[in-house]
Amino acid sequence: MKTIAFFNNKGGVGKTSLAYHLTWMFAERGLRVVAADLDPQANLTSMFLDEDRLETLWPDIGLRSTILGSIEPLFDGTGDVGTPRVERFYDNRICLFPGDLGMSKFEDDLSQSWPRCLEGHQRSFRVTTAFFRSVTIAASEHDADLALIDVGPNLGAINRAALLAADHVVIPIGPDLFSLQGLRNLDPTLRQWRLDRQHRLEAGKGISFPLPKGEMLPAGYVMMRHSIRLDRPVKA
Ligand SMILES: Nc1ncnc2c1ncn2[C@@H]1O[C@H](COP(=O)(O)OP(=O)(O)OP(=O)(O)O)[C@@H](O)[C@H]1O
Ligand SMILES: [Mg+2]
Repeated sequence: MKTIAFFNNKGGVGKTSLAYHLTWMFAERGLRVVAADLDPQANLTSMFLDEDRLETLWPDIGLRSTILGSIEPLFDGTGDVGTPRVERFYDNRICLFPGDLGMSKFEDDLSQSWPRCLEGHQRSFRVTTAFFRSVTIAASEHDADLALIDVGPNLGAINRAALLAADHVVIPIGPDLFSLQGLRNLDPTLRQWRLDRQHRLEAGKGISFPLPKGEMLPAGYVMMRHSIRLDRPVKA
């Protein structure tokens, strides 16, 4: 099983579109695919489901059938990562792990847990690996060949934790000045996160549950089509 994340702190460069279409294309080739929506904006989830179904996933009160529903017991101190609630498509070859705007509330806990992993602190490892563990459970229950992860456009703690689940990181990019400038932040950050991950794995040698083995290896860039203005490419 391989896990690929689509990552760029620049917004609107095609992360979600790539994750969505590749999910279907891989499934058409006979692979069993998990599409994990780890972007709190949940755009990937909205591409798969109509509004009536979305409304049932995100009730105002009660259990949410999303990633939030799976990891909430860990964050609110009542348990650990639970059974993933997923949506299935295409003769059950595609399994969507739905996203949730409510995930944003874990950003602080994830930020605080990150340094504490270096002390070998058990709960901090549980929190930091929550996405990795829930995606792993979803993939194992789905008997998946591949998990594709969509994340939001930022360098925050949710994305850092999300990328821990990734063997490979694909960087969608727009052919414009802002995207090129953005790479100046993105590349060093990704390099730093990979180094930080290594330090935490060393500090977590005594941890009793499996830690992420994925190496967050950059797989390369995917350039989106240039914007057209007045029937010609924009100057950038
Ligand atoms: N390869 C492409 N060529 C041209 N336009 C594209 C391409 N991929 C996506 N788009 C368009 O660009 C817009 C942004 O795409 P998308 O939502 O996939 O980006 P994103 O990186 O996920 O955005 P965000 O950072 O907000 O999550 C959409 O209108 C989409 O239809
Ligand atoms: Mg997106």
